[in-house]
Order: sequence, then C-alpha cells, then structure tokens
Amino acid sequence: MMNKKIIFGFSAAALIILLGGLVAVLNIKPRVEKKEFTPPQTIQRTEVNALVFYDWWTSPSEVTAVNALIELFKSKYPDTVVTPTPVIGGAGYAMMSIVKPLVASGQPPDAFQMHAGYEGMPYYRAGLLESVDDIWESEGLKTVIPSVVQEISKFDGHYYSVPVDIHRVNLIWYNKDIIFKNNIDVSKIKTWDDFFSACDELKASGVKYPAQIGEPWTAAQVFEQMVAGEGVDFYQDWVNGKVTSAKDARLLRVLETFKKYLSYTNPDYEKLTWDKVVDRLANGDAAFVVMGDWADREMGLSGKKFGTDYGAIVTPGTDGVYGLSIDSFQRPKGILHPTNASRWLRLIVSQEGQDTFNSLKGSIPVRTDVDVSKYDDYQRSAISDFWKARSMFPSVVHGSGAPQSFKLKLTDIVADFIVDRNVDKAAADMTTYSAIINDEYTINWSLK
Ligand code: GAL
Repeated sequence: MMNKKIIFGFSAAALIILLGGLVAVLNIKPRVEKKEFTPPQTIQRTEVNALVFYDWWTSPSEVTAVNALIELFKSKYPDTVVTPTPVIGGAGYAMMSIVKPLVASGQPPDAFQMHAGYEGMPYYRAGLLESVDDIWESEGLKTVIPSVVQEISKFDGHYYSVPVDIHRVNLIWYNKDIIFKNNIDVSKIKTWDDFFSACDELKASGVKYPAQIGEPWTAAQVFEQMVAGEGVDFYQDWVNGKVTSAKDARLLRVLETFKKYLSYTNPDYEKLTWDKVVDRLANGDAAFVVMGDWADREMGLSGKKFGTDYGAIVTPGTDGVYGLSIDSFQRPKGILHPTNASRWLRLIVSQEGQDTFNSLKGSIPVRTDVDVSKYDDYQRSAISDFWKARSMFPSVVHGSGAPQSFKLKLTDIVADFIVDRNVDKAAADMTTYSAIINDEYTINWSLK
C-alpha cells in the first residue's frame, strides 16, 4: 500500500537537488516602474454572496475537473452564487483577450485562470493585483509547496498568485496499439532523428500523418520543446531574451528540426482544438502527439488506460527535465466579492481542493501532503519525475516563461511557418522581436 499522506516521498538527495538546482529558478529584476491603481468605484457597494471567475477549461476532462472544484466550493459555501465563465480556447489565448480589458478598465472578475510567472506581469506592473501573501501565510503554504512553485508565484518578493496545479509540457504521447503493430520501440527515441525514423516507418506502413498537431499554439508547443531539447543554456537564453541574432546556429537548427517535424503532420490542423487532436491519438487515428499532460485525463475520461492504450515519453533532449505550466488564480484589485475570492483561493490550494481537481485533470498537485492513491499511474510517475528532475523550465507557450507579447508573437510566427516553412524568415522575425521588446524581459531565469 502506498503511503497515503506523503506523495512526494522525497529523499534528502531529491530535496538537495530541488533546493540546489531548481529552486533558484527565477530572480525578478523589475526594470519598469510599478503604477498604483485606484479602482473607479464611486458607489459604496455592499458585498453580495457571489463568486465570479473566468477560466479556459472547456474540454471534457477540464470541465469535469473544474466542476468538481466548484461543487466542492458549493458544498462548503452553499449560499454563495458561483458563476464560472469558461471561454473556449486552449492555453488561455482567447480568455486572456477578454479578461485583460475587464481588469484594466476596473471591472475585474473575482479571479481568473492565469499561468504563474510572466502572465501576471502586465497586471502587476499596472498595479491591478493585490498581493496574496495573506493566503500563503494563513494556509501555511510555504511549508507544503515546492520552492520552484513558490518563486514563480512571486513578484518583487511577494506572492501574487495561488497555484492550483503543475502540468508538464515536454511529452510525446503515443498510441500503444499503432506503435506495437509497427514494432517501434519508443524507449529508443532519444533524438528528434530517432523520432523521425519512427515516423518514416509508420508512413511506410500506411500511417499518413504519424504526428498530429492542432491549432497553432499546439505547434508552438512542439517548437518550444525543441528549444528545450537543444539544451538548458539555449532555453535560458531564449526566455531571457538573449537570442537576438537571426544567424544563431542553435535557433536555425531547431527551426530545421521543426520544419522536418511538420512534414509528418496533418494538414487539417488549423481549427483542431487540442482535445480533438488527443482524441485522434486515443482512437488510433494518430501515432504521436506532443502535448502537455492535460492529455492524460482526457484519454482517461474516454475510457483509455495509461500503459495499456497509450503512453508518454519525454521529448528528445529533455530527459530529466520538467517543462512547467502552472495554472493559478489571483486577487485583482477592486473586485466585487473579496470574501468569496479569498475563499476560492484557499480552497483551490487546500489538500481537498488539490486532490479533487488534479486527480481529474492529469496534472500533479502543488502540495506535498496530498493523497497519492487518488492519482493515476501516469500522475504517479510524473510526481516522481518532478522530484527527480535535474532542471525545470517555464513554458513560454503556456504563459510563464516570456513576456506576453513574445508568447503571442511566437504563435503568429509559428502559424506563418507552418505555411511558408521559411527558416530564415522565422529566425529573423523571432530574434528581431526579442530585441524590440528587450525592456519587457524583467525576469532573469536561471535554469541550471
Ligand atoms: C494549459 C493549462 C492547462 C490546460 C491546457 C489546455 O495552458 O495549463 O490547464 O488546460 O492549457 O487548455
């Protein structure tokens, strides 16, 4: 029987690795003055018992997970009217374009889904966020949340977000049946060339598009994992805005690899949401999909089993490396229901909230004192990989690693690249843009 209380069961060695290698991940150097924001409230309002929040969890497994969290909230605060506002569009690109103007114009929801790290920076800089130090303090979070997650939740030494999950982004999911029938040994896939050889074999046996992608951010996620596979040094330079030469050999190499990857992918990607891509994998219409581990419970929910029907390997070059996408909520200034906003933040990070949500989501919990028996085989292996990781990196595509303008630009560049496959142009666009927004790189990541 597995120890029910201590899931992370970390050894002293793992702790040392974590503290030494991973914890000092970020070091925020604000270079832009932070403004103070006074919400435009002229009417004295009485707080009503309600909670309004935004999220982008709209696939079947995402809905199941967030609904379970909402039900838990309602069971504790039955008189509160909870109004979730889900906005369709994976990774939050669509939701952010709705929430940003609301927050900026002084009409913020009580909370909204947001990746830890850079995604909160524009709000923080504009003075639109309240610190949530009080939540971290009252819930004793500093003793149960790994330092890497703590650091990424802070700006200028104060907490501005409360994490709900830890997702891993550097994974290739595979359909076991197709792999087995074609005698492919996925454990031997260590380089992108190995991966392409496997794709060639699949193509030769009639699998037309062995590696499937969806809407452009899913392809940008593939590119990002290739940057990570090029090595921690390169990834660190990339997220610190230091890849500014269009002739950078590492960038050109990654783009060439990405170009090759695209020669194995489906042409009908453009409007394909991430869960539909994952469905193809689950149904045997695709052999490989690079996706974060939100894919795990999506396939689980459709009755497939990790290890039997599908599996996952890390993307080439990232063995022992954990790519992070950390979903969080925050407390904007000037919200209408501060009491319930704080209740929500406390609930999502509580032991009960963590187990309720993450066990259905595919992510791993942010706390060390939760019930591991509630998680599936994939999640248990991810928990172990997290604690063994020699290095971690914040995802750019999933909001944490780079300024938001860069994240958006990257998706545009990738969307163009899928069509024109022009390596020099993509390198020039990306590096020119990084140089232009140099001032926005206010976090100095140290990933080694
Ligand atoms: C990520 C987010 C996950 C998952 C995914 C697809 O950015 O961290 O929770 O929902 O997008 O929407």
